[in-house]
Amino acid sequence: MKSFTYSRLAVVAILVISSAWIGGCSSKDGDADDKTPSFAEDQQPKAVYGKIQKVDVGDAIDPSMAKAGKEIFETKCTACHKYDVRYVGPPLGKVTERRTPVYIMNMILDTETMIEKDDTVQCLVQTFLMKMPNQSVDEKDARNILEHLRTKPTEAK
Ligand code: HEC
Repeated sequence: MKSFTYSRLAVVAILVISSAWIGGCSSKDGDADDKTPSFAEDQQPKAVYGKIQKVDVGDAIDPSMAKAGKEIFETKCTACHKYDVRYVGPPLGKVTERRTPVYIMNMILDTETMIEKDDTVQCLVQTFLMKMPNQSVDEKDARNILEHLRTKPTEAK
């Protein structure tokens, strides 16, 4: 009986230690619930992975691009993403405030590379316990989705 109790204790101890370890990732970047630092729209990240190296983002949002992007977003993304709450993946309503345009474009177009190389995305994979599948969106559509996402933070609720 005694040894049984001890081995249970050992198991609990191991679980506590290992979860603390993994927990190190689910801090700022992993949460994706707006506690993450925000970037200016035109700020480019230091390390750029993936096939998109630069995105031209105008000061004003292009309404026709945003409209086209909304349609694609609703077909290809809403199965896993909502705007304001966590779902299968993180909420994307304010993603343009916490991530750069290059990051967002690469997440859409070069999902595999981002999952493999980007620290932030690796943390998200641990938090959401799955890897986002590449949605086979072309570059024009991805850019339209980005424009749609830019409308979200300022949109009247
Ligand atoms: C099958 C589910 C699924 C679909 C469909 C999906 N995603 Fe994701 N997405 C995820 C998951 C899960 C994550 C978290 C990272 C990971 O685990 O790979 C994520 C992460 C992201 C991120 C990073 C968010 C952040 O806070 O850094 C962006 C941007 C994104 N997705 C955009 C899209 C867009 C745009 C589409 C549609 C073209 C889409 N996703 C379709 C599951 C999905």
